[in-house]
Amino acid sequence: MDPRKNPFAPGAGVKPPEFVGREALMEAADIAFDRIANGMHDNSMMLLGLRGVGKTVLLNALHEQAKSKRFETVKFEVPDKSGGHLARLLVTTLSAVLRKLSIHATSDHVLAVAVSALRNFASAFRIEYEGFSFGATPTSADAASGDLEADLSDLLATVCMAAKARQRAIAIFIDEVQYLSKSELSALARALQNAAQQGHPLIVVGAGLPQIAALVGDAKSYAERLLVFHEVGPLSEEAARRALEEPAARQGVAFSTGALDQITEHTSRYPYFLQTWGKFSWEQASGTPITTDDIHHALPSITAFLDTSFFRVRYDRCTQFEQRYLRAMSELGPGPHRTGDIAQTFGVTSNQVAPVRRNLIESGMIYSQRHGETAFTVPLFDEFMKRAIPRLESHSPNRRRRT
Ligand SMILES: Nc1ncnc2c1ncn2[C@@H]1O[C@H](COP(=O)(O)OP(=O)(O)O)[C@@H](O)[C@H]1O
Ligand SMILES: [Mg+2]
Repeated sequence: MDPRKNPFAPGAGVKPPEFVGREALMEAADIAFDRIANGMHDNSMMLLGLRGVGKTVLLNALHEQAKSKRFETVKFEVPDKSGGHLARLLVTTLSAVLRKLSIHATSDHVLAVAVSALRNFASAFRIEYEGFSFGATPTSADAASGDLEADLSDLLATVCMAAKARQRAIAIFIDEVQYLSKSELSALARALQNAAQQGHPLIVVGAGLPQIAALVGDAKSYAERLLVFHEVGPLSEEAARRALEEPAARQGVAFSTGALDQITEHTSRYPYFLQTWGKFSWEQASGTPITTDDIHHALPSITAFLDTSFFRVRYDRCTQFEQRYLRAMSELGPGPHRTGDIAQTFGVTSNQVAPVRRNLIESGMIYSQRHGETAFTVPLFDEFMKRAIPRLESHSPNRRRRT
């Protein structure tokens, strides 16, 4: 059918043609936003889920929701696992918030303190920052000790006070939270605790891979009480159908019942895969309804697209040894698997592969939500690994060849 009218477009963070299945979470956030905007306490939120499950799209929707209320918001994505980005990202984005708060104000002591705290913070962490002046510069040097934990708490406290003076609250949205370093996470946890104790109107909404739960737990034990973890999983059967049917119906196109059954089964109702199956079965079909035959014929293009767009980029970033470890893991199926079982399939002991496993966790390829367990962070990755490396080879350097 006409590709110009194809509503499905899989892509990282791409707004879906129909945003479905996250009503409960949106409602929970809505309550938290309203409470905080009204001077009450509520917990910050962490959205945890695998790649392609719809975290970024959900984070964006929550961001829009907060913007429609009495919030000044900042939003950014942590770029990679090298760490050390948090201070810079906050300086840039909070600067815009303070500028906005300063519009129409000629003098305001609280705001002047926040502006100077931001400048101090930037200079303490050697962040290039032109800044701007507002009112008389206060003499106290808040947020300038060079210790991220102390300074971030100070900075956010002053920014919150400046917002509060204008009946606004502060919401910080952070994508790819798993790339924050432990010290950055601790600093954030401490700032949240400080804000809760002082009654500052602050909420942080983070999104990232499931390993964050463990990271945050390590970072600060009290973080767990300040944050609610929400698991973002595959869509429900009903939501998955709506994600496909509604956008197609707007173009006068239907899916046969069999076709819907097949797609929900193949995709395990993962949003990125639903969009992919939707796109290619639409392309394949010659008219309405889209049938199981169309899906069958679209499968080679679907596999080729997923391999290049979704799986291959992640695979290529791994060393050869890492790839072979992943291949051994895929032999056991989608997972999670016992770490010892993977090592055994690879023909080694757990200790021998501990470093490679750790690297793969750090780079976000696999994760371990429970001790001694390992799972892929990308759904259907096990099947891809079997395509990429068809034959399983165990790792034994001195292995004798059978003759
Ligand atoms: N609730 C949803 N309903 C329908 N499609 C969705 C939903 N959430 C995400 N998608 C689609 O899934 C794909 C992946 O979403 P994204 O937010 O980038 O996932 P993640 O950030 O978890 O990797 C995108 O193409 C997006 O349009
Ligand atoms: Mg994302």
